[in-house]
Amino acid sequence: MNREIITIRNLSKYYGFGTDRIEALKNINLDIKIGEVFGIIGRSGAGKSTLIRCVNMLETPSEGSVFVNKLNLTVMTDIELRRARKQIGMIFQHFNLLESRTVFENISLPLELIGATKTEIKSRVNELLALTELKRHQKQYPNQLSGGQKQRVAIARALATSPKVLLCDEATSALDPRSTQTILDLLKSINKELNITVMLITHEMDVVKEICQSVAVLHDGEIIEQGAVLDIFTNPQTQVAKDFIKTSTRMDIPKSLRRMLKPKPEDNDSRLIRISYRGSATSQPIIGYLISHFKLTINIIQANIETIQDETVGVLVVEVSGTEDNFQQGLIFLNRNQLNVEIIGYVHRAATGFA
Ligand SMILES: Nc1ncnc2c1ncn2[C@@H]1O[C@H](COP(=O)(O)OP(=O)(O)OP(=O)(O)O)[C@@H](O)[C@H]1O
Ligand SMILES: [Mg+2]
Repeated sequence: MNREIITIRNLSKYYGFGTDRIEALKNINLDIKIGEVFGIIGRSGAGKSTLIRCVNMLETPSEGSVFVNKLNLTVMTDIELRRARKQIGMIFQHFNLLESRTVFENISLPLELIGATKTEIKSRVNELLALTELKRHQKQYPNQLSGGQKQRVAIARALATSPKVLLCDEATSALDPRSTQTILDLLKSINKELNITVMLITHEMDVVKEICQSVAVLHDGEIIEQGAVLDIFTNPQTQVAKDFIKTSTRMDIPKSLRRMLKPKPEDNDSRLIRISYRGSATSQPIIGYLISHFKLTINIIQANIETIQDETVGVLVVEVSGTEDNFQQGLIFLNRNQLNVEIIGYVHRAATGFA
């Protein structure tokens, strides 16, 4: 089933007036399908929080529309909006729990607000305590919990009214790597088992890689790139996306080499290229073929293989020397075999020590 559950059309959000006006979001269009985990990645100040807060109207859009489950939230009265928000849960970087309430009471709050009976509350909260593995903490207060446990309480609270959508604003950014993994695993199982669509924002490509199927890159209030995580990962179009991928593959070129990089070749320079591939292709035959068939000399600078969305993705950075003709034919061969190639720049042949 490919139906959209969140549709955003021509959404803009401005803060302030006149010369102080900040355009936090500019003409955003987005479709999130039922059952997806959809990531929004962007640097600090890109507009991520503003965007996700527009989805449940914590921020009122300046222009455009937001539809959740076919309902246009931007034209609703307060009463209609309150009802619609039952379908949308949200969690935050700093958990936003009520310190004066126990774990149980934090989770029960949304149910109290919609007038559920004591029996209904008890049974629903118990389900949620089980789901988030918090049963033995139910009488504790937030300040007696770890960050990971607090976020689990927040997740349980967000799910109390059985929403169809869960919005996550940097939900793991305040957590250590182990708690991050626990929370990501929990979000994954909520998505799969309860069929809740997850929209999450993050500045970490690792998070996107771990749980998202689709991603949009937000930069200065605009979506500059979007698609399947695997596609963006193996074939990023924008510099911002390339930078995020570099941080997550830890595949930046060594500094010493980067210093020598030239944007245009001079005589006798070799090319530095990044090759990415997915699936069953492996680096060995590719390199071997380039060498034997196109008479190219290849020096592997870096190689990395990982699994994204259950698929193998390899990234190689190699230095290539040989005639331009042979190089161009090599590129055609790589492209024909579904390998993505990016020319990073040119270096003097002696640069990598294998002149
Ligand atoms: N309430 C507000 N009033 C005025 N300007 C705001 C407000 N909220 C956000 N902004 C501005 O809007 C822009 C986008 O902010 P936003 O918080 O959405 O970014 P972000 O991508 O979530 O950043 P971070 O990763 O640091 O959380 C920034 O320039 C910010 O200063
Ligand atoms: Mg933010």
